[in-house]
Amino acid sequence: MDKILIRGGTPLQGEITMSGAKNAVLPILFASLLTDENCVYKNVPDLKDVSTTVKLLENFGVSTKKDENTLHVLAHNIEKPLASYDLVKTMRASVLALGPLLARHGYARIALPGGCAIGARPINLHLNALVSLGADISLNEGYVTAQAKKLKGTTLCFETTTVTGTENIMMAAVLAEGTTIIENAAKEPEIIDLAQCLNKMGAKIEGTGTSRITIEGVSDLKGVEYEIMPDRIETGTYLVAVAATGGEVVLHNGEAKHLQSILTKLTQMGVDLDLSVKNQIKIKSEGKLKSVNIKTEPYPGFPTDMQAQMMALASISEGTSFIAEHIFENRFMHVCELQRMGAEIDIHGNVAQVKGVSHLKGAPVMATDLRASVSLVIAGLVAEGTTEIHRVYHLDRGYEALERKLSQLGAHIERVS
Ligand code: EPU
Repeated sequence: MDKILIRGGTPLQGEITMSGAKNAVLPILFASLLTDENCVYKNVPDLKDVSTTVKLLENFGVSTKKDENTLHVLAHNIEKPLASYDLVKTMRASVLALGPLLARHGYARIALPGGCAIGARPINLHLNALVSLGADISLNEGYVTAQAKKLKGTTLCFETTTVTGTENIMMAAVLAEGTTIIENAAKEPEIIDLAQCLNKMGAKIEGTGTSRITIEGVSDLKGVEYEIMPDRIETGTYLVAVAATGGEVVLHNGEAKHLQSILTKLTQMGVDLDLSVKNQIKIKSEGKLKSVNIKTEPYPGFPTDMQAQMMALASISEGTSFIAEHIFENRFMHVCELQRMGAEIDIHGNVAQVKGVSHLKGAPVMATDLRASVSLVIAGLVAEGTTEIHRVYHLDRGYEALERKLSQLGAHIERVS
C-alpha cells in the first residue's frame, strides 16, 4: 500500500491551479442519467470518486469517454439500474443515482451506504422526500428499491439541511409532473452548479442559493456541454497549508466568493490575502498566526470539510482555539493523529480545545477520511522531521495531483509504495 513521506519546514512559494470541484462533478455526472443525449463535461478532476462514479454509470449501461479533464457521458439506454454494495461502500455519493434513475427510468435499486468514518450519515431525508414525490420505497437485504411510474411535483421541507439530499430531489423533480418546491434546501455553491447544468439541459429550476428551490417539471432534457466549478475545499486546503508553513502563493482558478467564511477566519489569524485579480487568490503568511474560534455550519457558514485542516493550523497558532463541529457527530478522527505529532487538543463533546504549540514533530500517522488525511499532510508540512502518512487512498478520492501541486510549491513530499 502507498504511503506519503513529507519532510516539513519549507515555506511554500509559487503558483498552482485549482481543479474542478469533487462535490460538484459527482452530482453533475449523475445528472447525465436524465437524458439520452451526449453530455460533455470540462474541468473534471482526476479523482478516485470520479472514476467510481464512472464505473457506476457504466454498470447502469452508460457509455463514457475520458480525454484528459474532459468527460463524455452518454446514457442512451439504462440497462441495469442497480448500484451494488461494492461500489456504494467506497463512495456514499452513489446515492445520487437514486433521484435521476427514478425520474428517467421509474426504477432504481441502490445499496444502502451505511455509516462511515465521520458519522452515521443516514439517507432517510432523501427517501422521505422521494416518497412525497410519489415514489414507492422499500428496504431489504441492505438495498433500497425505489419505483414510480411518474413522479409528481409537491412542496416538501427538509427537517435538516442536506446537500446531496437537495441535489437528489432536484434531479428527481426536473422530470416530474408539475411543480416541486424544496423548503429548507441546502445553499452550497455546488447545488447552484448542478442547477446551472440542469437548466442548460432544459430544466426549469429557480431559487438555488436560497433555502427555497422551485422546480417546474419538464418532459425531457437534452445533452449539454458544461464546465465544472473550481473546488472551494481544495482551494481552502492550499490556503491553510500556506498559512501554516508561511510563504507566498498564488492560487489560480480560485473562486473567492465561495470561500468567504474561510477567508475571514484566515485574515483574523493574521494571514495576508490579495483578491484584486479575478479568479485568483494570493496569500502571504509569516507562519506566525493567532488562535481562532470556529463553528461548522451549512453554507454560507464555515464548512465541515475544512474543519480538520483548520485544526492542524490552530495546533501551531498562538493561544487557544475552540473548534465546534455541528454537522457530523464523529468528525474528530484526525485529533489522535495530530496529538501523536505533538498537538495539544482536548475534546469536550463536539468542541475541540486546541492549545497552540511552538512546533509539531514528524511521526507515522494514519489517514481515516479524506479531510482528516489532508490535515495530516498540512501538519507534516510544518512539522520538524519526517511525517509518514498511511492509507493515502483517502486523499486520492478528493485531491487531484496533491503531491505534484505541493512539490511545485517547494514542499518535500513523495509517495512511496
Ligand atoms: N442527514 C440525515 N439524513 C439524511 C441526510 C443527511 O440525518 O438523509 C444528516 C447527516 O448525517 C449530517 C447532516 O444531515 O449530519 C448534513 O449532511 P448532508 O446530507 O448535507 O451531507 P452529504 O450530502 O452526505 C455533502 C458532501 C460532504 C460534506 C457535507 C456537508 C458531497 C458528495 N458530499 O455530504 O463532503 O461534508 O455535504 O457539507 O457533496 C467531503 O467532501 O469530504 C465530504 C464529506
